[in-house]
Amino acid sequence: MESNCDYTKAVFDHFQNPRNMGEIEDADGVGTVGNPSCGDVLKVMLKVDGDKIEDVKFQTFGCAAAIASSSMMTTLVKGKSLGEAKKVTNKDVAAALGQLPPIKVHCSNLAADALQKAIGDL
Ligand code: FES
Repeated sequence: MESNCDYTKAVFDHFQNPRNMGEIEDADGVGTVGNPSCGDVLKVMLKVDGDKIEDVKFQTFGCAAAIASSSMMTTLVKGKSLGEAKKVTNKDVAAALGQLPPIKVHCSNLAADALQKAIGDL
């Protein structure tokens, strides 16, 4: 049986105090992905200034791990160049969180997927 003890401090921190959760009404790029494993959905919105990601926000109907992963992803790309953001993968997000219980790894896959979709929408 899975217990909360399987989550790292970073996962708890980003779940309890999600960074950049919300909406950018005049977003330049929007990416929405659904998780085939559970049906949860993540929407990522980007505001860019030239080559720089000026703002990034997310909304999700996902679980705690999805919220933490999305929050972590936004901290990895905010203020970065599009070139740097394009290189962010699901593995980078999971690594930044430390570790997720194996049963929750699929939840972290939404974050980079939605980010890359939003970049493709610019
Ligand atoms: Fe659906 Fe985690 S269970 S994103």
